[in-house]
Amino acid sequence: MSGIKTLGQFIIEKQADFSYAKGELSRLLRDIGIAAKIVNREVNKAGLVDILGDAGTVNIQGEGQKKLDVFANTQFIAALTSGGECCIVATEEEDDFVPIDSPVSKNAKYIVCIDPLDGSSNIDVNVAVGTIFSIYRRKSMEGLATLADVLQKGTEQVAAGYVIYGSSTMLVYTTGKGVNGFTLDPSIGEFCLSHPNMKVPKDGSIYSINEGNYVHFPMGVKKYIKYAQVHDEASNRPYTSRYIGSMVADIHRNLIKGGIYIYPTTASSPNGKLRLLYECNPMAFIVEQAGGTASDGFRRILEIEPVELHQRSSIFIGSEKMVKMAEEMMATYAVSDSNTKIA
Ligand code: AHG
Ligand code: MN
Ligand code: MN
Repeated sequence: MSGIKTLGQFIIEKQADFSYAKGELSRLLRDIGIAAKIVNREVNKAGLVDILGDAGTVNIQGEGQKKLDVFANTQFIAALTSGGECCIVATEEEDDFVPIDSPVSKNAKYIVCIDPLDGSSNIDVNVAVGTIFSIYRRKSMEGLATLADVLQKGTEQVAAGYVIYGSSTMLVYTTGKGVNGFTLDPSIGEFCLSHPNMKVPKDGSIYSINEGNYVHFPMGVKKYIKYAQVHDEASNRPYTSRYIGSMVADIHRNLIKGGIYIYPTTASSPNGKLRLLYECNPMAFIVEQAGGTASDGFRRILEIEPVELHQRSSIFIGSEKMVKMAEEMMATYAVSDSNTKIA
């Protein structure tokens, strides 16, 4: 085993860095890792077992749920319930937050916000999907935890991470002291440290956006796309366009190679599509911890005050220089948007 460091070993080694509740946060991360392995097992078997396709149900956001969305949601809630460290789960797949009321959770201090399966549209076609999670400490001191405990700004996160079920399966997380990535070794069933101290390059040459929506984008985004496509050797343009359609996979690639991922407001989604609590905030925390930037086009994602559980936000995230340039264009052309009625 020399040279291998498992996720469990790493968490215990690093728990001295936590300023509070050392063993509890470690156990919570362990519980998430266990559920991720179970979801990974089903994702890997998809096609052989009856787990592909629609569940025939719709979540509160009007999106059809896939069987794997429902399966992943059940697994994460079950792991967090039996783990005993989590008092509330807020998940994409449930209308309301889920209070965890089990005998082992009586003194649970943590809130978990989760997108159990990200990139649902890719499930049926063997393309990478993911899980995104965000962990907060409960604010209220007594009684049952409430919605106010869930609606915390991204700056209050104590940990965040994602799992990517791709050509290999990885778990990447931060507790606010850098970002580390672990690859699942199927032969021993353990996540092993493979990407220590991940850093996103300050600049990059990949842009990731669903350009099919171009006509509905704000003027600043249209201008940024045109900027990305101009020939300029000094700045390595034209950039390369890469869009998988799984936020986790697109951001994971850009985190390693450098790049920008944008999901802006559109005419049909005036507040953006992605959800603040379990998509934007955790990815923003991770990317900032890796030296990158995350903005809604005008302000830092992590400073947005949430007012509702399934709140949406636009997002511009990745290499610092690229996000800054996109923000400049958003600021410059904001006026023309307010003068233009988008059809
Ligand atoms: P989810 O599957 O959890 O609903 O998330 C899908 C998200 C995100 O992962 C992805 O980048 C984006 O939606 C894709 O949306 P478009 O199909 O509109 O590009
Ligand atoms: Mn998602
Ligand atoms: Mn999802």
